[in-house]
Formats: sequence, C-alpha cells, structure tokens
Amino acid sequence: MTDLTLTTPALSVVDVRKTFGHVQALRGVSFELMPGEVLSVVGDNGAGKSTLMKVLSGVYAPDAGGRVEVKGEEVSLSSPTVALNSGIATVYQDLSLVDTRDVAANLFLGRELRRGPFVDRKRMLVESERVLAELTMNLPSVRVPVSYLSGGQRQAVAIARVLLHGPDVVILDEPTAALGVQESRRVLDVVQRLKDAGTSVIIVSHNLQQVWDITDRFLAMRLGSIAGIRDKALTTVDGIVRLIVYGDESPASV
Ligand SMILES: Nc1ncnc2c1ncn2[C@@H]1O[C@H](COP(=O)(O)OP(=O)(O)O)[C@@H](O)[C@H]1O
Ligand SMILES: [Mg+2]
Repeated sequence: MTDLTLTTPALSVVDVRKTFGHVQALRGVSFELMPGEVLSVVGDNGAGKSTLMKVLSGVYAPDAGGRVEVKGEEVSLSSPTVALNSGIATVYQDLSLVDTRDVAANLFLGRELRRGPFVDRKRMLVESERVLAELTMNLPSVRVPVSYLSGGQRQAVAIARVLLHGPDVVILDEPTAALGVQESRRVLDVVQRLKDAGTSVIIVSHNLQQVWDITDRFLAMRLGSIAGIRDKALTTVDGIVRLIVYGDESPASV
C-alpha cells in the first residue's frame, strides 16, 4: 500500500470557472500542486493566468461549481485575508510596500508584534533578520527604508512578508517583469529557497527561459483553458511554446 498522506497535494483546483459578462476568462480549470513543487503558469496575454491567480488569492469569486482544496481540505476563498489564512499567500505585482518605512516595519505591516499594548519593535527586528537570513537575502540592514532597496530586494521583502504567514502555497504573478537579469536571478534564487524549504510555488511568467531552471512543471493556459501540463524533464521550451500558441505540441501544427 502506498501512503497517500505522502502524496496529498498542497493545492487541488477542480473545475474552476470565471466569467466576466460575456467573457469566459476561466473555462473549467483543474490541476494539482504538490508540496515543494514549483509550477510555472505560462500563456499569452488574455489566457486567464491573472484571473486564475486572483481566484486562488481570494480577490475574485469564481462561478459556482468548482472547488479548491489546500492539503486535501476544501477552502472557501472569499477574500484575500481568508485565502491567506487558508494557506495561500500571494505576492502582488505592485508589492504593496510602504517606501518610507524600513524593511522590518514593512514585513509586519498591519500586524505588528506586540508586547502588551506596545509595539514590540525589538522582536520584529529579530524576526525580520531571521526570515531574511532563511532566504539568504543580503540586505544592508532591516532598518533601511525600502525606498533604498533595488527592485530585486524589494521583491524579496514582499516574498519574505508573505512567508511570515507560514503559507502552504506562494503565488507570484510576474515577479521579475520589471527587473533586470541580475535582479531577476536573485528573485529566482529566493523561489528556489522556498522550494527547498518545502513550500509550493506558483509562478506566472512570460519568460520561459528565465524560469526554466527552477520549474518542476509547466501549466500552459490558452483562451481560458489549460492547454497542457508538462513535466519539465519531459518537454522542451519549443514544446511549451507550441502549447501556448497552438494548444498542442505536435510540430505538424506549426
Ligand atoms: N476584471 C475584469 N473584467 C472583465 N474582463 C476581465 C477582467 N479581468 C480579466 N478579464 C478578461 O479575462 C480574460 C483573461 O484575462 P487575464 O486573466 O488578465 O489574462 P492573462 O493574465 O493571462 O493575461 C481576458 O479576456 C480579459 O480581458
Ligand atoms: Mg496577467
């Protein structure tokens, strides 16, 4: 007998649909994400990637009928806070950092650690250093305002912030879209760290080459549906591109 608990997915998405008026942004999407897996979601503009992430983040309510499970338990993702408390943490494109405040303050924004009635600044500094060290992030200090940080460092701070919630699944929608090569590399290193720590990651990307190394499986979306899910080891960049563009991988369709 195989031990099924070893293979319970971190996330199961079953027949999720979302319509905006006459637009069917998601036409019944189903997939699983395993513990410690990095799933890269790819597809053309308008394929439904962001809508899927927003449903999983609790930003958009899906149409009735589908189901989302975290570690085998059905969850109702009725708001971003509920999604976060259900184990799904999303790093938004705008990062939602407060530039004038320092790294530690940003990490605990809105949920400051307290000792009695007082904000426990000392414990927040210690905790901030701990979580950033876990990500092997090199920051000059957790006391620098985030406006002093590079794009990659800011992205990493935003990732560290969601990690403080101990999520099962971290969602990153185009985390390197605004970054240069070196900075992107740093962010992808952070994703690798998350994976090493057993966190499952969904990363939306338009750059296959860039996410290739850290990806376990690719999920290609096309016109609101999944065109295919492929193990990286069993496919090629060309194969994924064909899935995105034509909906299948056969060279004959090219
Ligand atoms: N809030 C919205 N209202 C109406 N239509 C939307 C909304 N969000 C997305 N759409 C539509 O849903 C489809 C999928 O969009 P989106 O999920 O943003 O795709 P992607 O992220 O893959 O580029 C598109 O046709 C888009 O115009
Ligand atoms: Mg998008």
